[in-house]
Amino acid sequence: MQAATAYAHPNIALVKYWGKSDDELNIPATPSLAITLGDLRTTSHVEESASEVVVLDGEVVNDAKLERWLELVRKQYDLPLLHIESSSDFPASSGLASSASGFAALTVAISNAFDLGLSLEDQCDWARLGSGSAARSIHGGFVALEPEEDTCRVSQVLDASAWDLSIVIAITSDRAKTTGSTAGMTASRDASPFYDGWLRATMEAFDQCLVAVRDKDFDTLARIAEASCRQMHALMLSTEPALIYWNAATLNCIEAVTGMHEDGIKVFYTIDAGSHLKAVCEADAESHVSERLSGIEGVHSVITSRIGGPARILV
Ligand code: PMV
Repeated sequence: MQAATAYAHPNIALVKYWGKSDDELNIPATPSLAITLGDLRTTSHVEESASEVVVLDGEVVNDAKLERWLELVRKQYDLPLLHIESSSDFPASSGLASSASGFAALTVAISNAFDLGLSLEDQCDWARLGSGSAARSIHGGFVALEPEEDTCRVSQVLDASAWDLSIVIAITSDRAKTTGSTAGMTASRDASPFYDGWLRATMEAFDQCLVAVRDKDFDTLARIAEASCRQMHALMLSTEPALIYWNAATLNCIEAVTGMHEDGIKVFYTIDAGSHLKAVCEADAESHVSERLSGIEGVHSVITSRIGGPARILV
């Protein structure tokens, strides 16, 4: 029987993407740059089956995004009906990008199980068609995603071992996010007066971020990443109706990270389409940052991770 299991790590963007230039091809309107979370993973098993079944984190689901993606893959490849089982060892649908690691792991598993012979670029393309940020989870370390005419260039800027940083994730909610990223991005493009300004600022931030990462310049990276995060959330807030992902605990965590930074600790924050805060710090500050964030009102738990490697086949 043809079957394969693969895993991929989620990634978090330091220069964010929020908005697509092509909805059909799922091409982001701006470049982005992310780090891979090596201690968190999504594992995807795929095998030929008599009927199509998708099990996500132990539950049989009808996932529209996944069904649409499988339809696209089948336009190009002769795939049988599939039994797909995917599970993550971190909370799904809450701004921790389980769809990114999920589509990356699934792409690698399907390519292997059915000998599609996908190159690294092809894997990035297929993963991106599922979820824009998923292309970044094919690679490890620091990963840039740059839109091109009808595809995207995805490249590793630094590998996982090049810079010893740590990520401390403060879990501030146990509820799924209210608006998914695709619907949210469309709304911001169509109904925020700030959208064009956001695109311009992000292009500039990306170029500066590339230099900061290559130079391993923590303070410059911190400034660029926090600004990109706040600008994305300002765009979300300025969308009609408003997209508000933060809660009170998110703000408490921002205050704590800012305080630690003022005290000389090498740490900065970033937040995606959810309320959790991710603090990125130098590895030797991890336990201090983790302890501090654990004690914040509204923080349910804290997860720590080092930077990780690329998506991989297991069997
Ligand atoms: O991968 P998508 O299309 O679901 O979008 C991800 C959007 C953010 O996580 C908020 C930002 C990013 O660049 O990862």
